Amino acid sequence: MKEPIENQIKRTAKEKNAIILAHNYEPPEIQDIADLCGDSLELSIKASRTSARIIVFCGVHFMAETASILCPDKQVVLPVKDAGCPMADMVEPEELAARKKELGNIPVITYVNSSAAVKAVSDVCCTSANVIRVVNSLEADEVLMCPDKNLARYAAAHTDKKIHLWEGFCPFHNRLTPEEVDAARKNHPHALFIAHPECPPEILEKADSIESTSGMIKFAGKSHAKEFILGTETGLIHPISRANPGKKFFPVSDRMLCEDMKKIRLEHVLASLERPHDHEVRVDENIRVKALGAVQKMIGLG
Ligand code: 13P
Ligand code: SF4
Repeated sequence: MKEPIENQIKRTAKEKNAIILAHNYEPPEIQDIADLCGDSLELSIKASRTSARIIVFCGVHFMAETASILCPDKQVVLPVKDAGCPMADMVEPEELAARKKELGNIPVITYVNSSAAVKAVSDVCCTSANVIRVVNSLEADEVLMCPDKNLARYAAAHTDKKIHLWEGFCPFHNRLTPEEVDAARKNHPHALFIAHPECPPEILEKADSIESTSGMIKFAGKSHAKEFILGTETGLIHPISRANPGKKFFPVSDRMLCEDMKKIRLEHVLASLERPHDHEVRVDENIRVKALGAVQKMIGLG
């Protein structure tokens, strides 16, 4: 009888000393075979600390690049190499460096949803889980944040600093409308509404809590409520339901679906373990060294 693909993956990962990391938005079958699932911050911290020789990153390109920035001695593989993030493509390093100069060289805080080359011209990185802590850790009174305008507006509401925006956004979080939130609340009158900070301000205004993806999982665990409407990519339904049996979770809108996060299949994970060179993501050493400072500064802030 043919060995099930899940077993082949586990066996090959063990033989090759590989760890499999999966983002909370990945398809359920990918999350179920991963050694660790989490949000961007948790996965970067895990990547920086693992003793495995190969890191299989089930997520999108910037996540694998971040792991490669942190672990140059490891082989980082992305099972589907063209899984990208449209928001990360909304900023180029040259235009960011030019804008920083124009603003008098104020510090640049860059969301991890960005290329390594953009991180290399940034002062510090942040994720949706630590953005407020990162902004308030800086001494400067003015900062430039990129690429997500919504994350920057969210941070601006929690600091005295002046935040200059970059006009980037996540196409899936940004298109959520207040009418969709109202309709979901009407359908689930006992549910709390939790929103990701990539949503526009008029959506965040309506939220009972604003959280990163793993923050939502923790919030649901602590809350006395039994039902939740999730203002984020629909993939989160799987890990949040698994972590909170007995509670109910509803997507705020079926339109919040990131195609890039759904590209990886079990066959791709196995192929990337069997032929890691074909799936390797490696950051040019010059860029890596510059980007490392910004990523390490973020991780050092806890
Ligand atoms: P988290 O950092 O909350 O995991 O979000 C990553 C992301 O890409 C959201 O769209
Ligand atoms: Fe990028 Fe949005 Fe997809 Fe996250 S959900 S990876 S921000 S496009």
